[in-house]
Amino acid sequence: MSNYIILGAQWGDEGKGKIVDMLSSRMDVVVRFHGGANAGHTLVVNGDKTVLHLVPSGIMSKNCMNVIGNGCAVDPCLLAEEIETIRKAGVEVNAGNFMISRNAHIVTPVHKFLDRISGGMIGTTGRGIGPCYADKAARTGIRMEEITGGNLEGRYRELFEKHEYAINSSAIANEFSFELSFKKFERDAGTLREYVKDAAETIYSVSRAGGNILFEGAQGAFLDIDSGTYPFVTSSNTTIGGAYTGSGVYLDFGKRIAIVKAYATRVGNGPFPTESNDETGARLREAGHEYGATTGRPRRCGWIDLKMLKLSFIMNGFNYIALTKVDCLGIFDKILAAVDYDGEGFPRYLEFEGWKTDISGVTKFKELPANCRKYIDFIEEYMGVPVGLVSVGPDRNQTIVKEPLWKD
Ligand code: IMP
Repeated sequence: MSNYIILGAQWGDEGKGKIVDMLSSRMDVVVRFHGGANAGHTLVVNGDKTVLHLVPSGIMSKNCMNVIGNGCAVDPCLLAEEIETIRKAGVEVNAGNFMISRNAHIVTPVHKFLDRISGGMIGTTGRGIGPCYADKAARTGIRMEEITGGNLEGRYRELFEKHEYAINSSAIANEFSFELSFKKFERDAGTLREYVKDAAETIYSVSRAGGNILFEGAQGAFLDIDSGTYPFVTSSNTTIGGAYTGSGVYLDFGKRIAIVKAYATRVGNGPFPTESNDETGARLREAGHEYGATTGRPRRCGWIDLKMLKLSFIMNGFNYIALTKVDCLGIFDKILAAVDYDGEGFPRYLEFEGWKTDISGVTKFKELPANCRKYIDFIEEYMGVPVGLVSVGPDRNQTIVKEPLWKD
């Protein structure tokens, strides 16, 4: 039996999807435990691109149960659409490989509207995530159990009335009404009925039977509501603690995998000490195609911040690093890594010689250019945790395994 957890170690968009996908073919269960359709995981399988927002990445694998845990915020309209897209790509989604915890909260059209009119200080994804979690904390939210024999219409009306003043005070109030929003919401929610189950029970029994379980984080450590760069954070726990509260099950995770991008990016507002607003940032953005998978927004880019990453490792107890997008650095003469801050809080950098080579076809660590190995070895040494995987391109095959994640 092995339990794995994969988490973004920075601000999200580290390239978790591919690593989750590689592992999930060996898993009996893959669990999403927090967040909602604000996440976007791009998977490339046999050259075909699929973006998943809510459905766990194990859906691409045969014989894998995919669970949306109680800590998630589920938008039935987007989820129904996503399931349709996945089916069109020839992948099965049914009650035998997909379930949603009855305790997961529903992102309603009211929440999405509130997110839209809330002003742009944080730069949210606009997916209604914050307002949904706010209602959860206020004990006025609606849970998935409501669509299996509950009173969805009554609960939705109460929620609408609670927020009616804010809705009607907005400049675009004429675009929203109970009647306009409820019908589609109810129809889409209805399509999910067969998946609503006691998810904690399933995870627990697979674990007891010795199955392989993977917990798939979304976003990244510094977007955690408690430990992130508050208030510029998302509304859930993106760090390891969220795995327990967001699934309702305690598991001992043998492998706690940090997904670390070889440089740094952030979408939305908030602190980003190594952000590069000059040509370097623009070159990183182009080399890494750094545009949001969910919103299409250009991502802010800069060099890796190892000092900050250390905090992420403290929070999450990582014991394995998957270093992603290393190939994107192949265009630079010099590569920088922040290793400390000066008295005024500005990053202090170490400079590495670039390798100026296309490494996207390299399959063995020892075949990487010496300067590239030096950079990777330094990250490993600084963090005190092995770099087990090095990703050199978006495809599943473009992954160098330094230390296997499983024993055959
Ligand atoms: P929200 O999660 O939509 O409320 O957005 C809150 C903050 O988290 C914003 O800065 C978003 O850009 C950021 N965020 C949310 N989801 C992701 C993600 O999957 N990757 C990167 N940033 C995200």
